[in-house]
Amino acid sequence: MFRSLFEFLQRRKGPEYDLQGIRRAGKDGLATARLRLRPPARADLPHIRRYAAREAFYRYLDMEKPTPEGTRTYLWAAIAAWRSARPAELVFAIEPTDAGRLAGLIRIRVDEDDETGASVGFHLDSDFQGRGYATEALREIVRIGFRDAGLDRIRAEVDTRNERSCRVLERAGFRREKRMEGYRSVRGTVTDWYLYAVTAPRSG
Ligand SMILES: CC(C)(COP(=O)(O)OP(=O)(O)OC[C@H]1O[C@@H](n2cnc3c(N)ncnc32)[C@H](O)[C@@H]1OP(=O)(O)O)[C@@H](O)C(=O)NCCC(=O)NCCS
Repeated sequence: MFRSLFEFLQRRKGPEYDLQGIRRAGKDGLATARLRLRPPARADLPHIRRYAAREAFYRYLDMEKPTPEGTRTYLWAAIAAWRSARPAELVFAIEPTDAGRLAGLIRIRVDEDDETGASVGFHLDSDFQGRGYATEALREIVRIGFRDAGLDRIRAEVDTRNERSCRVLERAGFRREKRMEGYRSVRGTVTDWYLYAVTAPRSG
């Protein structure tokens, strides 16, 4: 009797503050109405290389134009993270079920100093924009972030000029918290960024 009670208590651990819970939930893919969110694969590389070379991809991102080699290094690291014991960041491929190939990526990264917080980033191949896929993917990542990773707060930082990204965040329930003047330099231009965040729904 005591033994079984003790075992029961032992199993009741607190929430997991790295992304193991998300990895468990997502390793075989997550299904939304029109998408499959799955771990990225080597076969995704040519698609990512093609759209990442377009200016529309990196216009508002704090990065240089991606090189084919840099894209490969990024993708290989994203694939490897799914095998890590305690992943701090997981990247999902966004695959429309009727397309049979990747249309973009979405990532979630747990904060180093506060494991109840995480940040997200996302992009779509320009051929797949304007259909609501980024919003649909983001809603699902937020849902499992709160449900499976014990997160309290998920945030995103976005260049104030990036209106499409702001709309995605707002449709997915994020609130604009502040404007950060001169927050980042985007290929030599100092730019203002917004901080957006969504907090976990509280039951009771
Ligand atoms: C940010 C980004 C993903 C937004 O792409 P997007 O296609 O506008 O976003 P969604 O896939 O959610 O599509 C939403 C649009 O599809 C429209 N839409 C059409 N059919 C729809 C449907 N069936 N359901 C939902 N929305 C639909 C929506 O009205 C919306 O258009 P609007 O914003 O003009 O009103 C894209 O611009 C991108 O990849 N940019 C480059 C990388 C980047 O800047 N990432 C953000 C970093 S924080």
